[in-house]
Amino acid sequence: MNSRKPDNLNSASLSKNQDCGETTQGCLSHAGAESQPEYAASKGENFAPMEDSLLGTPVLEANEITKSFPSPDGGKVEVLRGASIKIHKAQSVSLMGESGAGKTTFMNAVSALERIDGGSIFWDGERIDKLFSGAQAARRARFMGFVFQSYCLVPELDALENVMLSARIAGLYRPFKTRRAAKDLLEKVGLKDRLKYLPSKLSGGEKQRVAIARALINSPGLLLADEPTGNLDETTGEEIMDMFLRLCSDEGASLLLITHNPDFARRTDKALRMSKGIILPA
Ligand SMILES: Nc1ncnc2c1ncn2[C@@H]1O[C@H](COP(=O)(O)OP(=O)(O)OP(=O)(O)O)[C@@H](O)[C@H]1O
Ligand SMILES: [Mg+2]
Repeated sequence: MNSRKPDNLNSASLSKNQDCGETTQGCLSHAGAESQPEYAASKGENFAPMEDSLLGTPVLEANEITKSFPSPDGGKVEVLRGASIKIHKAQSVSLMGESGAGKTTFMNAVSALERIDGGSIFWDGERIDKLFSGAQAARRARFMGFVFQSYCLVPELDALENVMLSARIAGLYRPFKTRRAAKDLLEKVGLKDRLKYLPSKLSGGEKQRVAIARALINSPGLLLADEPTGNLDETTGEEIMDMFLRLCSDEGASLLLITHNPDFARRTDKALRMSKGIILPA
């Protein structure tokens, strides 16, 4: 993985499973990439999208992922039934699909927060699904940032501390620099006046924006965002979307955006949809 540290986005991101029911081991990030001029050019209106095969080693590749969960009646629910994806450097990919289709399960699977039953997962060309969880976590911390669907903020920590905690967990905490970067990010998402607020005192959309700031604090090479604008008004949602796409175009980060918003999906480089545990073109 390459490393990148824009001045305004430093440090780290994680979450602890407190006010959410999702899988949440550390979800750490890092930096990631110089820009990719030939791909950036391919995004212009007058250019045809570049073939995946010309884009080099994918940042994330998942092949034929299967995953079942035990059901309450003693049987099992097959959620992922051979889902595949490739995401390249500086590429934004959206994933839509009906509620219950398996999108969140897929995000947890490809980031190795959830063990898979079958298939293979590669991060930057390295197969990781067979590694021990500690080795997966160390690699994950190098380049991934997460916005969880249910935020997963630590309830005892205020907004600023929630963002800074990620830097600490990733081993990237620098007292002055991290605080400055966390404040800058919270300001960017419109929460300058909420730094000292506990999650319980924040609205849903405000919590979501803290979660977004936390995901970005490590300047992730790959941002995995699960309905990150679901609780935001239209204008704020647009601003967050602009911010994510700028990360890709200006910083060379890659994005997997799970969304129910077709307008946002259309703005990404590649629009996919999940149906009954399979990924198809949108
Ligand atoms: N730990 C679990 N145990 C049992 N079933 C689960 C578990 N996690 C998810 N499921 C089931 O898997 C299916 C897919 O869930 P998932 O959260 O991935 O859907 P989704 O596409 O993200 O939906 P939404 O758009 O509503 O967020 C659901 O039917 C859910 O009940
Ligand atoms: Mg979901």
